[in-house]
Amino acid sequence: MANGEILSGFLAPHPPHLVYAENPPQNEPRSEGGWEQLRWAYEKVRESIDELRPDVLMVHSPHWMTQLGHHVLGVRHLSGKSVDPIFPNLFRYTYDLEVDVDLAEACAEEANGMGLLSKVMRNPNFRVDYGTITTLHLARPQWDIPVVGFSANNSPYYLNTEEGLDEMDKLGRATRRALERTGRRAVLLASVTMSHLHYREEPELPEDMHFERPFNHDSYRWDMRMIDLMREGRMKEVFTLLPQFIDETFAEFKAGAFTWMFAAMDYPELAGELYGFGNVIGTGNAVMEWNLAKAGLSRISGSGQGHPPVPTPGDADRPFAGGLDEPASDWANTGPRVYGEGAPPAGGGR
Ligand SMILES: [Fe+2]
Repeated sequence: MANGEILSGFLAPHPPHLVYAENPPQNEPRSEGGWEQLRWAYEKVRESIDELRPDVLMVHSPHWMTQLGHHVLGVRHLSGKSVDPIFPNLFRYTYDLEVDVDLAEACAEEANGMGLLSKVMRNPNFRVDYGTITTLHLARPQWDIPVVGFSANNSPYYLNTEEGLDEMDKLGRATRRALERTGRRAVLLASVTMSHLHYREEPELPEDMHFERPFNHDSYRWDMRMIDLMREGRMKEVFTLLPQFIDETFAEFKAGAFTWMFAAMDYPELAGELYGFGNVIGTGNAVMEWNLAKAGLSRISGSGQGHPPVPTPGDADRPFAGGLDEPASDWANTGPRVYGEGAPPAGGGR
C-alpha cells in the first residue's frame, strides 16, 4: 500500500465545557447547555468527517505532556474515564477507543528517522488526556473510527518557541511520511485554543453565558486578525506572525498542534473555512477546516518539503506559570502569570 491521503485538517479546540454543555451519556455532569455557537460549529466538523469517511483520525493534544520525546498512543484498545483536573465538575467522561497501532508505529519510526525522539505508548492502563478525548468526542462522537494520538512534547516551553515549533514541524513531516507509507486516508485534528488568557472565577452556573466574553480587546483583535488571514488562505503570513501571536496572547498554538498539522499537510496556501468562534472563560476558540480533498490536495506524493516555522527573535524563555512543573491542564498553567503580569501590551494584535 502506498500514497496515503490527508483528506482534511481541522482546528479543533478542546474546552471541556463544550462536552459538558452537550450532555452526552458518556459525561457524568449535567448542564443546561451553553456555548452553542461553538457546538454548532462542531456539527459542521461532524458532517464533513461523515462525508470524508477517513480511515483514521489523528489528534495532537497539549494535555498529554511528555517531558522527553514525542509519544504516540500504541495500544489497540483503550478505555477508561478521563477527568479534567481543573474542571472535574464539568468533565468526567467514560471513553472507549480503538487505535491504529500500525500507523502509530510508522509515525514513531519516521519521527525517529528525522532526528526526533519518539516512542510508542504501550501501557494498556494508560488514561488518555482530556484534550484528546474532548476533541475526538466533538469531532466524532460515535467513536467508530480508529485514532492516532500524539503527545505534546514540552520543547516549546523547555527550550523556546522557535526550537519547539521546529520539532513540531518535523513531527508533522514524519506524520506525512507515515501516511504515505501506510496508505491511510487521514483526517487531522489540531486540538488547540487560540488566545489563551482566561478568567479565574467560574460563575455559579458555569453555562451562564452572560459571563462569557473575550478576556481583553487585544486578545480578541489578535484572534480575529489570525482568523482573517486563515480564511483568506494567507498561511505564510499566519506562520510569520505565529510567534508574536503566541507571545502576546499565550495562544495554545505554542504547544505545537497547529504547526504539526500544517507541516503534515505540507503548508497549503489554502483558505480555511471558519465554522464558528467563541470564548470559553475568556479564551478564543475557532473551529475551522482546511479540506484538502475538496481542493484536490489530499494525495501525498513525495515527503513534502514544506517550510519550517518562522523564528521569533528573543522569544520566550518564557514558559507558562508553573514552568516545567506545570500540571496537565492549561487552565491552571496560565493563572498567576497571566493575571499577575501577562496581559498583552497595548498595541498587540494589530
Ligand atoms: Fe487546553
